[in-house]
Amino acid sequence: MKEEQVHELLYQALETELGGVQIYTTALRCVINEDLKEEWEEYLEQTKNHVQIVQDTMEELGLDTETETPGRLVVRHIGESLVKAMEMALSSGQPAAAQLVAAECIVLAETKDHLNWELIGETAKKANAKMAKALIEAHDEVEDEEDEHLYHTTGWTRELWIESLGMPAVLPPPEEVKEVETAIGAARAKHARGDML
Ligand SMILES: [Fe+2]
Repeated sequence: MKEEQVHELLYQALETELGGVQIYTTALRCVINEDLKEEWEEYLEQTKNHVQIVQDTMEELGLDTETETPGRLVVRHIGESLVKAMEMALSSGQPAAAQLVAAECIVLAETKDHLNWELIGETAKKANAKMAKALIEAHDEVEDEEDEHLYHTTGWTRELWIESLGMPAVLPPPEEVKEVETAIGAARAKHARGDML
C-alpha cells in the first residue's frame, strides 16, 4: 500500500466534495423540474455532510485538510469549470438548456466522486488497522448516497434530454422510481424504461 497515494486520494476526495457543494448550489439556480429540485436539495445537504466526513477522517489520520497537492488543484479547476459552464448556460437565457447543462455537470462531478469512494472502499480492505477503521467508517456512511447521486442524476439527464428531443420521457426516471443503488441496477432500470412510458 502506497500511503502517500492514499493521502492524495483523500485530498482529492475532499476537494471533490467541496466542489460538489458549489456545483449543487449553482445547479439549483438552473433547475426547473420540481422533483429534480427536491432531489438536488437533498444531495446538496448530503454533500455538505460528506465534506465534514472526509475532513474528520483526514484529521483522524493526522492529515492537514488545507494541504494543497497538484492533483487537488486539478480537481478544483475541474469543479470551478463546471460551475462556469452552468453560469454560461444560465446567461444564455434558455432555462431548459441550462437545466440540461446542470444535470450533465452533476453527472461529471459525481463520476469522480463515485470513483473516489469506490477507491476509498478498496483501500480500506488493505490498509493497516488504524487507517482501515477510519476509512471504513467514512465509507459506510457515504457509499449508498454516492450511488444514488450518480445513478439517479444520470437517469434524470437522459430522460430530460429525451424530453427535449420531443420524445416520451420517463420522469422521474426509472433509476429514481426503482431506487437504484448499483451499476447493474441502473442498467436494469434503463433497460426497463420502455415499459414505464
Ligand atoms: Fe459526495
